[in-house]
Amino acid sequence: MKTSILMVDDDEAFRGVMAAELRRQSYVVTTVASAEEALRSLERTQPDVVLLDLRLPDKTGLEVLPRIRELSPASEVIMLTGHGSIDSAIEAVRAGAFDYVTKPCPLDELEVRIQRSLERQALRRRTSLLERGLTPADPAASFVGDSPEFRRLVGLVERVAVSDSTVLIGGETGCGKGVVARLLHARGSRSQRPFVVVECAALQEGLLQSELFGHERGAFTGADRAKPGLFEVAHGGTIFLDEIGEISPATQVSLLRVLDTATFRHVGGTSEIQVDVRVLAATNRDLAGLVRQGRFRSDLFYRLNTVSITIPPLRTRATDIPVLIAHYVRVFNERFGVRKRIGAAASARLQRHDWPGNVRELLHVVEGALVMCEGDEVGLEHLPTLGQGSPRGPDGEAAGPEPLGTLAELERAHVERVLRAVAGHRGQAARVLGISERNLYRKLSEYSLLE
Ligand SMILES: Nc1ncnc2c1ncn2[C@@H]1O[C@H](COP(=O)(O)OP(=O)(O)OP(=O)(O)O)[C@@H](O)[C@H]1O
Ligand SMILES: [Mg+2]
Repeated sequence: MKTSILMVDDDEAFRGVMAAELRRQSYVVTTVASAEEALRSLERTQPDVVLLDLRLPDKTGLEVLPRIRELSPASEVIMLTGHGSIDSAIEAVRAGAFDYVTKPCPLDELEVRIQRSLERQALRRRTSLLERGLTPADPAASFVGDSPEFRRLVGLVERVAVSDSTVLIGGETGCGKGVVARLLHARGSRSQRPFVVVECAALQEGLLQSELFGHERGAFTGADRAKPGLFEVAHGGTIFLDEIGEISPATQVSLLRVLDTATFRHVGGTSEIQVDVRVLAATNRDLAGLVRQGRFRSDLFYRLNTVSITIPPLRTRATDIPVLIAHYVRVFNERFGVRKRIGAAASARLQRHDWPGNVRELLHVVEGALVMCEGDEVGLEHLPTLGQGSPRGPDGEAAGPEPLGTLAELERAHVERVLRAVAGHRGQAARVLGISERNLYRKLSEYSLLE
């Protein structure tokens, strides 16, 4: 969904330019020129972000802020200030604005602030779900499979769940690491306590530390009040560190310390905080390899790896494929209110595919096929072009010689091919590859494919 922004500023030139620029970055922008109009607009719709000029013709930004908070508590408010009014900007931050930006500011800085405020918003939503005690439906109900490997995996998960130990979950992208983490929590003794997910790769370095460990008031610019860390939020429950392979050396040190002593300090703080938290971590990278390359601390690796659960790729558990297809056909039929089925030819084609994006790719393919199919039987023509991974001849033999090369080389070539096929559209490429856009971005930079 696109991010909506309400821009409140009486400076017509600034407003016009910024709104146009932000729209080009595909934000949905509404502009108004006074406090009065802003409030009227907020009574109708609540945007994700409000950009609020401090000096408005009818009222100051500071005066309308409390009313904005009342009308639209979920919106993030970023103050826009002219030169020389930093003091009132800081006051505004105290009064509940999220951040402030000094005008005139470059667009990319404004965008960074907007993005950061959205990250915070997402975090708050998650926390407030936890506080309201909403427990999601039993994750086991949506973890299906029938292969011996899958059964072994489920057995292992059940056993490890009750052990309360730290677990490192490995496996290729889209194979179910997130689901396994939820299951471990739901089946353990902490199931009634919080389950907190930290997307390690989504937050930039400084922000990750302060999210994990919290900070003291004044620890850095903009830290207007002390904030508890996610380790405190997760107290008594489980913290799930997703994409742990991406964390910086400094954060690795801090994590090791919590794992060893169950204590930590706020950023900028001196007192020790004691917590009781179970740590689960996941990565689709070869963490042991990163350790050998000196990019991940070995002591942290061994500490996390107390128990490891590795989810086998979908292509190695072929009997799960039809079961998963049937499951997702049911799920999407129900969601779309239709009753379609997969025809024999399409079914055979799906069974032969090697699923580099694993279950995530499979569910997107099934969803797409059901959407494309206008009748009630999905045929080959409704399937997307499936990766050319390993085309097989009619007798099941690989057609032609397999290209030799490292996995990374193949991956790079495949990523390039997909990008070409979708004319460089990254969002689309990520969907075809069955990975997140963030993940794709990382691969592109790894392979120096970013222009
Ligand atoms: N065995 C399964 N049965 C049903 N759905 C599954 C299964 N495994 C994974 N899924 C679904 O596939 C999608 C991807 O799973 P998940 O997000 O857990 O993958 P992941 O391993 O964490 O991937 P990434 O490394 O990209 O984060 C999710 O929508 C999940 O619900
Ligand atoms: Mg995941």
